[in-house]
Amino acid sequence: MDFSYRIRLFIVLFAIGVLAGGGFLFKELLLPDSYGLYGPYRGDAIAEAALVPIRHGTNMSCFKCHPHEAKIHKNGRHQTISCEFCHGTYADHITDGKKIGTLPVKKEKEITTLCLRCHNNEIKARHEEVIKTIAMPNHLKDQNVKVTHNCNQCHQVHAPLKYIIRAKQITGLMEAEL
Ligand code: HEC
Ligand code: HEC
Ligand code: HEC
Ligand code: HEC
Repeated sequence: MDFSYRIRLFIVLFAIGVLAGGGFLFKELLLPDSYGLYGPYRGDAIAEAALVPIRHGTNMSCFKCHPHEAKIHKNGRHQTISCEFCHGTYADHITDGKKIGTLPVKKEKEITTLCLRCHNNEIKARHEEVIKTIAMPNHLKDQNVKVTHNCNQCHQVHAPLKYIIRAKQITGLMEAEL
């Protein structure tokens, strides 16, 4: 009788057993200790993430030292926009409640570039109801000004309709607030 097929079967089963057993052993060796503590991930990752220093503040964090800008910003159409989007990161400016560095303040053409990052009508990602967009240079041509005008020559950056509403009130195009 030929037993060689049994031997072959035995070899195959043995190999599978070794691979599976080795796999389990390997997995045990390679898995970090805290794996599976809370779920299918490394439990220690939570504690590590909590140790990453916080770099951003909220708008509230800027208000107490910048009451002038805060007042304008809170009453304008940009009230939902983050100060840090336009000025940079809190941690580069303040540490332990003290000023440690200067934040960039955009000027002239840089301001126009900044505004158009959100208001250019070539950006189709958002609906007009969410954010009003303008076409350039048509927006400036409509106002009969040179196309070299920068946005902040008509729009107050922290409350973009402030001057425009005021101008309309003065010229009687809009009712003044009581
Ligand atoms: C849409 C962009 C934008 C947002 C949002 C914004 N700023 Fe500004 N800010 C500017 C620009 C541009 C200037 C400089 C030009 C100007 O004042 O007309 C400026 C000027 C300033 C200045 C004066 C800097 C100087 O030395 O002249 C301060 C202070 C300031 N912003 C603080 C804030 C604070 C605080 C907030 C949030 C409450 C804020 N900004 C939100 C764009 C922005
Ligand atoms: C602990 C107080 C404090 C806080 C909080 C603070 N600032 Fe300032 N900031 C200052 C002082 C002081 C100056 C320099 C004098 C000035 O321009 O009023 C300044 C200046 C600035 C300037 C002009 C450029 C510069 O750095 O000198 C900008 C822009 C500015 N701050 C934005 C912000 C924004 C945005 C926040 C919130 C993320 C913020 N600040 C939070 C104190 C503060
Ligand atoms: C981070 C994106 C962002 C940036 C940068 C930005 N804006 Fe805005 N802006 C908005 C959003 C969002 C609104 C709408 C807020 C609301 O719901 O009223 C708005 C509102 C406005 C409005 C009022 C539109 C209306 O009829 O209600 C004007 C005007 C305007 N922005 C001009 C500017 C100018 C000028 C600049 C550059 C200084 C600028 N924006 C920078 C996001 C931005
Ligand atoms: C010469 C003045 C002037 C300049 C410069 C200017 N705007 Fe305007 N903008 C206006 C006026 C006025 C309105 C309001 C029109 C109205 O109420 O019918 C307006 C309205 C807007 C609106 C609201 C549009 C809407 O559909 O309601 C946005 C957004 C805007 N401007 C962004 C900008 C940006 C971004 C820049 C710079 C690239 C800029 N503006 C430059 C005068 C100007």
